[in-house]
Amino acid sequence: MIRAEAEARLRQLRVEIEGHNYNYYVLDNPTIPDAEYDRLFRELQGLEAAYPDLLTPDSPTQRVGGKPLSSFTPVRHRVPMLSIRTETDTTPTGALAFDVRVRKELGLTELDPPIEYAAELKYDGLAMSLRYEQGLLVQAATRGDGETGEDVTQNVRTVHAIPLRLKADPPPDVLEVRGEVFMRRDDFERYNEKQRSLNKPTLVNPRNGAAGSIRQLDPAIAAQRPLSFYCYGIGETVGWDMPATHGQILDALKALGLPVSDERIVGPGSPALVEFHRTIADKRDRLPFDIDGVVYKVNRRSLQQQLGFVAREPRWAVAHKYPAQEELTTVEAIEVQVGRTGAITPVARLQPVFVGGVTVTNATLHNEDEVRRKDVRVGDTVIVRRAGDVIPEVVAVVMDRRPMRDLIEPLHPAFTLPTTCPECGGPVLRIDGEAVARCTNGLGCPAQRKQSLIHFASRRAMDIEGLGDRLVEQLVDKGLVQTPADLYQLSLESVAALDRMAEKSAANLLAAIETSRGRELHRFIHALGIRNVGEQTAKDLARHFGTLDALMASDEAALLQVNDVGPIVAESILAFFSEPHNRAVIERLREAGAWQDGVARLAGGGHLVGKSFVLTGALPSLTRDQAKEMIESAGARVTGSVSKKTDFVVAGTEPGSKFTKAQELGITILDEDGLITLLQAGSDQNETSN
Ligand code: IVH
Repeated sequence: MIRAEAEARLRQLRVEIEGHNYNYYVLDNPTIPDAEYDRLFRELQGLEAAYPDLLTPDSPTQRVGGKPLSSFTPVRHRVPMLSIRTETDTTPTGALAFDVRVRKELGLTELDPPIEYAAELKYDGLAMSLRYEQGLLVQAATRGDGETGEDVTQNVRTVHAIPLRLKADPPPDVLEVRGEVFMRRDDFERYNEKQRSLNKPTLVNPRNGAAGSIRQLDPAIAAQRPLSFYCYGIGETVGWDMPATHGQILDALKALGLPVSDERIVGPGSPALVEFHRTIADKRDRLPFDIDGVVYKVNRRSLQQQLGFVAREPRWAVAHKYPAQEELTTVEAIEVQVGRTGAITPVARLQPVFVGGVTVTNATLHNEDEVRRKDVRVGDTVIVRRAGDVIPEVVAVVMDRRPMRDLIEPLHPAFTLPTTCPECGGPVLRIDGEAVARCTNGLGCPAQRKQSLIHFASRRAMDIEGLGDRLVEQLVDKGLVQTPADLYQLSLESVAALDRMAEKSAANLLAAIETSRGRELHRFIHALGIRNVGEQTAKDLARHFGTLDALMASDEAALLQVNDVGPIVAESILAFFSEPHNRAVIERLREAGAWQDGVARLAGGGHLVGKSFVLTGALPSLTRDQAKEMIESAGARVTGSVSKKTDFVVAGTEPGSKFTKAQELGITILDEDGLITLLQAGSDQNETSN
């Protein structure tokens, strides 16, 4: 290749790779396979190695480059980085107080029109100022005390969502962008998972993850931490045609290729803010990252200037938080629980604490290694976290609050897992390489029997209404039920004799058990509680084999033919059915008519067999589960992500990136009505052909 050609190709590759980076890291919507991206990247690296003088600092290959520093250089902010006042009222009406103050400061009366506000998320990470000169990222600085921060350019260059060059021709002479570096929850989990598997230290929470990474003196270490970035404002600008409102400024930053969240609105008066606060409260747990609340800003810059500042806080902005998802409390005891598969889970019994909207008294400690790593002991003050529907967990011990005397080993020893099961006395074993220890007594252990029964009866398995924890507990303790097969032989008298059980409720329970006879094969397979076989795998197995006997007769090779079944799942299935006890219970369940084989509509009767669907957004009347069930009844599969193999995307309100991807790939997009029409088309067909 001649030099001129190489130069042209280099330029083309950089633009193309930056485009893919933008799609992947900013839009969260990759358009090429990873392997193709890697190929382009390697081609660029090759050309740059061959022509070192053509290497430029904004090349995508130059994100990690610098040597470790011994300390960070101070940076004086030319426009100070301010903080925002926090509204103390955490109810949605907190926005009213802000509006009242702003209107008063501006000398407005009730007769004046509402003020236009911008509302956005309050990101929970580390504030950052990015300085672009002639379109190139030249400096990144932390906030520090607001006047002087630290130069963390080397680390910030490793954040892929941050462009090294702005998309503008000509670019502004100087543009300082203010925003937050943070870590997404999935990136945090994945990072910790990897660290754990390498026996390396994990991050305490996404926030510390972000802050700690930016403070790394060695950029190579920072580069391994998956960080994200969103803009929320600007600092110094020279030669930039600055828009008149905050909303437009963010639009302009987005057009320059900078990441700006779409979770923002511009609207009139406090009602718009109250509604935004509510909307975000509802979807907070579904956001891919933690937030600290929302921020309201007066939209028009001229009004912002009129309002000015008090101390270090502008009068035109306020932060409005949500009730905390993390709180402090103390550990009263550490106990272990035995799960359905015998897994022994350490649980912290806590001094009750109100967190994430409920009172929490227990929190999981996951497994032995986690307790040791966090070094949780009785008497410790701990951070408890509860977000959404997630089981509350102990995040960390506040070591500063552990008095020295409590370190006296005999009083508060480090946690050790019992060597025998607290429920049945059976041996507890931890297989090499596995994180969990298990009671090896199988269904000989009453705790495992109870959990298996609870699972068998659960809504997504045999769906026996009313058979919950307390009843199962009694049925097992009184010796009335040992295995699921015993449920179908219960008598009214024996059930009615249980504590707090009237004749009527006993009859209801027996009726519910009765109704569960003849359940679809996939529910029954799921109900068996085979390790590593969840609801989806149970459906795949039912669809593939059609009858339980066919499944029980299959060998490894046959199992591996099934969608998503790998060696580990296959091994679990074979182990389950080779157990004589399990076979005996299944025979008794067969006599009870617990399941119905050859479920035609799953086995191939549906008119949408072989089709693949993806659901995105909220549908107007169907829940996600209902839509899924209907689609699967027609023989089709519902999967989580859109690819070329997807046949239909069903989109509701606020569909995500899956919708855009479907459009790009030219996949048929249906709304709820469209879905129902499609499903009905099949049932009409069946009726006429029958
Ligand atoms: S605006 C002029 N907007 O909160 C006001 N700050 O206490 C300057 N933060 O350190 C800040 N999300 O790091 C603003 N959407 C947002 C924000 C946000 C998070 C952080 C920021 C700052 C702190 C202000």
